[in-house]
Amino acid sequence: MIGTLAIASGKGGVGKTVLAVTLGHALARTGARVLVVDADLGLANVDVHLGLVEDRHLGRALAEGRPLVEMIVREPTTGLDLLLGPSGWRSLAALEGETLERLAREIEVLAAGYDAALFDLPAGIGPRTLRLARLARRALLIATPEPTALTDAYALLKVGLKDHPGLGLVVNMAEDRADGTNAARTLATTARRFLDRELPVVGIVRRDPRIADAIARQRPLLVRHPNAPAAADVEELARSLLGAELAGRAAS
Ligand SMILES: Nc1ncnc2c1ncn2[C@@H]1O[C@H](COP(=O)(O)OP(=O)(O)O)[C@@H](O)[C@H]1O
Ligand SMILES: [Mg+2]
Repeated sequence: MIGTLAIASGKGGVGKTVLAVTLGHALARTGARVLVVDADLGLANVDVHLGLVEDRHLGRALAEGRPLVEMIVREPTTGLDLLLGPSGWRSLAALEGETLERLAREIEVLAAGYDAALFDLPAGIGPRTLRLARLARRALLIATPEPTALTDAYALLKVGLKDHPGLGLVVNMAEDRADGTNAARTLATTARRFLDRELPVVGIVRRDPRIADAIARQRPLLVRHPNAPAAADVEELARSLLGAELAGRAAS
């Protein structure tokens, strides 16, 4: 199975949370047990995407010294297990050092009980992003074709992800496949030239207004718009991750 999968980006607003929830949902539909961890602690919003009002979240576990497992929320529509983040907890946004280390280890243990555990990480190159990305077996770098998103993706790659053994790129909000492929090629060429690092593309997700509609209605994309182009793209991404897994096992 997929195991731990970090979802990271240089720039915010590129679709990490949408992709974490929708990819998690697509994987859960194949029968996998899936956990989504909202690790974007200062700006957590997995709960908003899914219309949940919950007082069980990571922040409480930390504040009250309770085990993370007590804070897991089962979301009935998607079948996902969620470890939600508290929004607007400044102290958590700055989490680092020994507290971060303990949290990372506890998340690792929790994730081991699932077929796939997706970490929705804070944008940028902060300690939490780098620590949790390093913990994960695979890391998906999310960028859009916008120059600023590509530049920030390169910065994260350079500072934190270039040595990650399970790294792959996802281009989100592509106008079409060609637009996504072009953006991926631009970033991959730069990474090869300056970092001596190959950057395989694992998925391209098209720009699709139905995503905003699903978020506005706080419904999962795959339920609200099962036939949306973006839904098909995320399902293809899920298949490609599962396929790589099977191919990897056959080869070993
Ligand atoms: N493929 C897409 N097509 C259209 N809009 C998208 C797409 N992906 C994300 N968005 C929009 O971008 C916004 C930010 O997405 P979000 O997942 O919250 O980003 P992040 O978690 O990286 O900050 C969302 O409100 C959503 O409407
Ligand atoms: Mg987010």
